[in-house]
Amino acid sequence: MGRTKVDFPLLCPGSSSRARGSRRLSAHPAAVAGGSPSMRARFLVLAPALLLAGCGGSNSSIDLLPADLVASGRQIFRHDTFGDEAFWTDQLRMHEPIGTAVSPRKALEVGLKVDAEALPASVVEGIRSGKVNLDDPATTVALLKLDAVVGVKGVVETVAGVDRLARVGITCALCHSTVDNSFAPGIGKRLDGWPNRDLNPGAIIALSPALDAQKKAVYNSWGKGMYDPRFNQDGLSKPVVIPPAYGLAGVEKITFTGDGDDIAYWNRYVSVTQMGAQGSFHDPRTGVSVTHGTQDLVSSKLPALQAYQMSIAAPRPPAGSFDAVAAERGRLVFQRANSCATCHSGATFTDANQRLHPGADSMAEPEQPSYAARSATKMYRTSPLRGVWQHAPYFHDGSAATPEAVVETYNRRRAMGLTEQEVRDVAQYLRSL
Ligand code: HEC
Ligand code: HEC
Repeated sequence: MGRTKVDFPLLCPGSSSRARGSRRLSAHPAAVAGGSPSMRARFLVLAPALLLAGCGGSNSSIDLLPADLVASGRQIFRHDTFGDEAFWTDQLRMHEPIGTAVSPRKALEVGLKVDAEALPASVVEGIRSGKVNLDDPATTVALLKLDAVVGVKGVVETVAGVDRLARVGITCALCHSTVDNSFAPGIGKRLDGWPNRDLNPGAIIALSPALDAQKKAVYNSWGKGMYDPRFNQDGLSKPVVIPPAYGLAGVEKITFTGDGDDIAYWNRYVSVTQMGAQGSFHDPRTGVSVTHGTQDLVSSKLPALQAYQMSIAAPRPPAGSFDAVAAERGRLVFQRANSCATCHSGATFTDANQRLHPGADSMAEPEQPSYAARSATKMYRTSPLRGVWQHAPYFHDGSAATPEAVVETYNRRRAMGLTEQEVRDVAQYLRSL
């Protein structure tokens, strides 16, 4: 069986995450119960090996997840709609505006990304030479037919020689992948797990001809990189930033509020309640109970989907993107008693595996309505910080534009007494993680 290399911190004897690590990988009902017998068996068999691998240093690269499970998870993450066309097509009728009125230029403007590797050479050449018309909605349909629009799946029918968008659905990659812009802005190689902070999901949903003006106004108010994954459940509107789906191996509380013990918890929530997947989600803590359709197109995919996300390491900062000497000074401030490492501890820079925090510990609170108050735990999880350089703005409401703004906010709100230089140094340290 092939293996994939991943960074997996803290699974060594004596570390507190050891026991939890085994529980997490072997017995989580949400992740495991629905899997096919072979997937399930593979997951269970792997757990002990995980405990022994990788000791002697945090974040050491170890052989962890079976490559075929990860590969099938990647396919699901990128391409699976879980039957959510029932929502995006039958209910929202998104195929009408997307199929007739959204040019590639407009699609790029609302933050949709194009996977350059899905484009045949002739199309690449046509875009380069300007022969492919990026102002024509028919080009969008052609791109969908090539499966080249990240996170959007179209079914294109050809009637009397004319291509028509018959159905459309979305995948996880819509919000949690972007591209490296290597071909043109918005067009390049996929970067899975990187939040698409250019994406304006609210503005896209507001194109639906099936929504009334009041709902459209709410969706249009959210803005780029923001989404409220609870609005359609509790009727309140206060969007949060789209977070990364990388760097989560070893973190046993998922979401800003630590609602789930594993990634699969949230994947089930978001696929069923937000994407409109065919399947069920129930959580007595929030009272959310949703079933779509009579088939379950979600459960069997959760183990592979989770394995894939766990395999995505946080991206390293680009060479030269921070001042290493200042970052080292900043590290010492960060690690001081009663400073940042009290909460941002361990290899993933979070105490999530030990505790959650009351609202007041979030620098985004007080806010109206409070995001924690709408969640299952009513608490906040300390955010993991690996790769934090990559995904400004910060805090769940995106209120801190830069690492500097983050540290200034803490310095003021927690009366830390840091000098200006120390604030800058800690910010450089954040850029280095
Ligand atoms: C419309 C945009 C959107 C789509 C589609 C979407 N998500 Fe998310 N995702 C979000 C937002 C917003 C949050 C933050 C919610 C929170 O933490 O309370 C989130 C949170 C997460 C988290 C938690 C990250 C952490 O730090 O704990 C993971 C993992 C994740 N999503 C994976 C997925 C997967 C897998 C799918 C497909 C099944 C998916 N998402 C579909 C917007 C989206
Ligand atoms: C009392 C616990 C606690 C302390 C101390 C603390 N943090 Fe946090 N940190 C949190 C929590 C909880 C969040 C999530 C807040 C939210 O999103 O609303 C967070 C979020 C962050 C984020 C945002 C990450 C993201 O993905 O948006 C950064 C950056 C950060 N903290 C850096 C720091 C630095 C630097 C310090 C020291 C100056 C510090 N923290 C001190 C608990 C703490």
